[in-house]
Amino acid sequence: MISNESLASEILGHGAYLCVRRSGNGDVRRAGAARISTLAARLQLRNEFDPGTPPSRDSIALLRRRDATKGDVTDDDLLQAEWVIHVASKREGAVGEFCGEASRLLEPVARVRVLSGVVRPKNYTGAAMNNWAYANQVTQQPGGAMPNAFLFPLSKTADWWRKDWMERHTYFLPRYDDHGQMTSEGHALAAAAGIPHLLRRTYKSLTEPAPVGQYDFVSYFECSDADVPMFHQVCAALRDVKRNPEWRFVREGPIWHGRRVASWEELFS
Ligand code: HEM
Repeated sequence: MISNESLASEILGHGAYLCVRRSGNGDVRRAGAARISTLAARLQLRNEFDPGTPPSRDSIALLRRRDATKGDVTDDDLLQAEWVIHVASKREGAVGEFCGEASRLLEPVARVRVLSGVVRPKNYTGAAMNNWAYANQVTQQPGGAMPNAFLFPLSKTADWWRKDWMERHTYFLPRYDDHGQMTSEGHALAAAAGIPHLLRRTYKSLTEPAPVGQYDFVSYFECSDADVPMFHQVCAALRDVKRNPEWRFVREGPIWHGRRVASWEELFS
């Protein structure tokens, strides 16, 4: 029997996106002023706007809304979020403390929905896929160079999770007929154009599938202004089920598009 016990169970890191929208007439800027930055400094979180080389795995990012598009899943907290705060750390406690404290500060004046997950080793990536899909990917750049941020959570259907991991694995590679003719590109090849242009990061739910009301995967992308059409082109390629049959099993959340900013003050300017 093919068992899910073979899947990677190690946790390499933790992360969360706090989706914030005003409630009432309270002053959101003042509610978090200085205190969110002090909290980030105390937890030793580096601002991703200036990521350093290599980028820190203990970090915070501030994102200001540009627009958002509906997905298959109704999620007004993300769709209407005016600001998104990202926090990441190898330390589970640091992410928990940041989310708890930032939510407590903002909750009198804002609605805060937390989308969180964990980083695990990749399941479907051997050495060659790693060299192809990850070794040449763009690393995180300063906010001025790649100002666009896209938060794109999704879940997969019960039919997906009923498949064993070996069958799920096949959806990430091209498929060929008996004559060696490619019949579909699969996830990785369909999305290939994005590798050198899109920074990508995916948090997984602690359990797969995720509990009701949460996403199986919370993916996030960054790119330059010139590469925004490339992000949409890659999404369109993944959605084309002739090219990528995996997407038959995907239920998309909203796609939230924001701009990376350097400071709490700039978030509201
Ligand atoms: C930019 C080009 C992209 C490339 C080259 C790429 C490649 C890959 C690869 C190789 C995997 C398998 C990772 C593993 O071994 O576990 C993967 C997983 C995944 N990708 Fe992409 N991807 C790209 C863009 C995207 C986009 C735009 C989305 C949209 C949200 C996305 C969502 C995901 C998700 C959710 C997973 C985990 C799927 C699962 O474990 O079932 N990817 N990607």
